[in-house]
Amino acid sequence: MARGRLNSGNAAEKELPKAKINSQSLKKIAKLLTYLRPYGIRFGMALFFLLLSSLVGLAFPKFLGALIDAAQGKSNHSFLPNTLNGIALLAFTLLLFQAFVSFFRVLWFVQVAEKSLADIRRDTYFKLITLPMNFFSNRRVGELNSRISADLSQIQDAITTTLAEMIRQLILLTGGITFLVIVSPKLTLTLLLIMPVLVVVAVFFGRFIRKLSRQAQDKLAESNTVVEETLQGIASVKAFVNEAFEANRYNKNLREVVKLAVKGATFRGLFASFVVFCLFGAIVGVIWYGSVMVSHQELTIGQLTEFVIYGLFVSASMGSFPELYANMQKAVGASERVLEILDEKGEDISIDNVKNKLKQKIEGNLEFDNVVFSYPSRPELIVLKGLSFKALAGQKVAIVGPSGSGKSTMAALILQFYYPQSGEILFDGKTAKSYSLTDIRNQVAIVPQDVMLFGGTILENIAYGKLSATKDEIIKAAQRANAHDFISSFPEGYDTIVGERGVKLSGGQRQRIAIARALLKNPAILILDEATSSLDSESERLVQEALEELMKNRTSIIIAHRLSTIREADNILVLEKGEIIEAGNHQELMGIENGLYKYLSGLQFEV
Ligand SMILES: Nc1ncnc2c1ncn2[C@@H]1O[C@H](COP(=O)(O)OP(=O)(O)OP(=O)(O)O)[C@@H](O)[C@H]1O
Ligand SMILES: [Mg+2]
Repeated sequence: MARGRLNSGNAAEKELPKAKINSQSLKKIAKLLTYLRPYGIRFGMALFFLLLSSLVGLAFPKFLGALIDAAQGKSNHSFLPNTLNGIALLAFTLLLFQAFVSFFRVLWFVQVAEKSLADIRRDTYFKLITLPMNFFSNRRVGELNSRISADLSQIQDAITTTLAEMIRQLILLTGGITFLVIVSPKLTLTLLLIMPVLVVVAVFFGRFIRKLSRQAQDKLAESNTVVEETLQGIASVKAFVNEAFEANRYNKNLREVVKLAVKGATFRGLFASFVVFCLFGAIVGVIWYGSVMVSHQELTIGQLTEFVIYGLFVSASMGSFPELYANMQKAVGASERVLEILDEKGEDISIDNVKNKLKQKIEGNLEFDNVVFSYPSRPELIVLKGLSFKALAGQKVAIVGPSGSGKSTMAALILQFYYPQSGEILFDGKTAKSYSLTDIRNQVAIVPQDVMLFGGTILENIAYGKLSATKDEIIKAAQRANAHDFISSFPEGYDTIVGERGVKLSGGQRQRIAIARALLKNPAILILDEATSSLDSESERLVQEALEELMKNRTSIIIAHRLSTIREADNILVLEKGEIIEAGNHQELMGIENGLYKYLSGLQFEV
């Protein structure tokens, strides 16, 4: 337990996995890029402004060089004016232009990214919640959550920053090299001979050091597990007098942390020396060679300044590429995971709400015809083994049986959360497949075993059964569900916030909210999955009355634990290990000697 918690904590901090960038992955991502299309013009302008601002940025070292040369009364052989004031004036004009362009470039990139990302988020979320139940049983909520948060944020970063930065650096690199060559081909050659090698070494060195420090962190986290486990099981540690053993175990881990940390420090030190000696050495070397050229009048001081600054530009952008490329890889990986959801086949539900338009009405006749079912996540366990029964419109059918016999599973099948491997479920004599999913779910309501309330007001929670309901309708439903009184007793009444951060309602109160919800939905078929938690007799009476009200005029499937609640049912199915072993009304079942029903009701009677 402790280990699991710690590990999942680490996983959250770990970097997102990277993916290979190749033509196949790029083709996939092109699909995500279609989300940029509605904002295409703005995106294009942002790109154009990015180009402009990068080009203007590239011009500034020229100005600097020209200023220095003009101060010494020399011409820089460039297209710039020769007077100090002229150069400065031009430089300020360009700066103003640069400021203007930069503002819009940043604004537009963010606007486009935010808007298109919101679209992707919306679609991913909708796709996610329309995926079949089975999808969710195979995945953890946290993992799905991180696709919508972390993965999409990575993509967002890629569009706003990484992409722009890559383009900018590319312009600076090529432009920088061009200017270097223009200023002095000879000096450029020297620079290009040493710089790339040094940059590559520096980048790989840096990565290696980061890897080492991550290892040390992981090791430290591992040693913390020891502490956590020990503290949680402190009673066992003491009872077995294993304090010394645990202390040793911890110490051994700590030694390894130290070893890794020292190793990291060695390389970090080497890295620092490398930077000081080689990188700065290279700069000094270039400046020295440049100065020699200046003294031979091959170069002006201004040109040398220009050259050094362009040299710094070029090496900086060389150094930034690995990082940018890694970010791109992460974005590609994130896109692939998001696309995995978008490409998944969802249930047939459309985003423009078709909720209230019924295509086929269901009267309420329900039939299971030889239904065999096992959960896709556990195919070896056959939960329902050829179930058959009929419920006529308006009838009450009760299902009883031991825990794990498959009662809630039947409810899930009626709601079409899963599909039987063989056999069929029929509504009004027609196979469920001939109805649209929305039609079935709109006409079947469930009061589930454990009622989940959403964060929000009580009013909103009841209205979940029918989003278009008026306040009067909602209050009427609450009254019929015996919920009005307790709701009115809250100071805020129907506006009381419930759910995770709100008022905690009791089990019976939550059930009555769920009943009001179902009443509002007014379904043809109602499924009650009775909660096991026992209510006191007063709440039980209130809930029972509410249920009676709810069951009027519709087919009810009652999954019952308290047999007292189903005496009146038209038909009682006794389920055991996925098979109906007894069926009939209360009297008939009580007449079966050694029957399970008789046995169970005997037990409850004793209690
Ligand atoms: N989502 C699921 N994935 C895999 N197996 C499941 C799933 N839900 C239930 N099962 C298994 O199916 C069997 C029937 O479960 P079900 O929830 O239908 O029992 P139940 O009759 O409603 O029990 P209870 O009275 O305790 O509510 C159990 O063995 C259970 O472990
Ligand atoms: Mg159940």
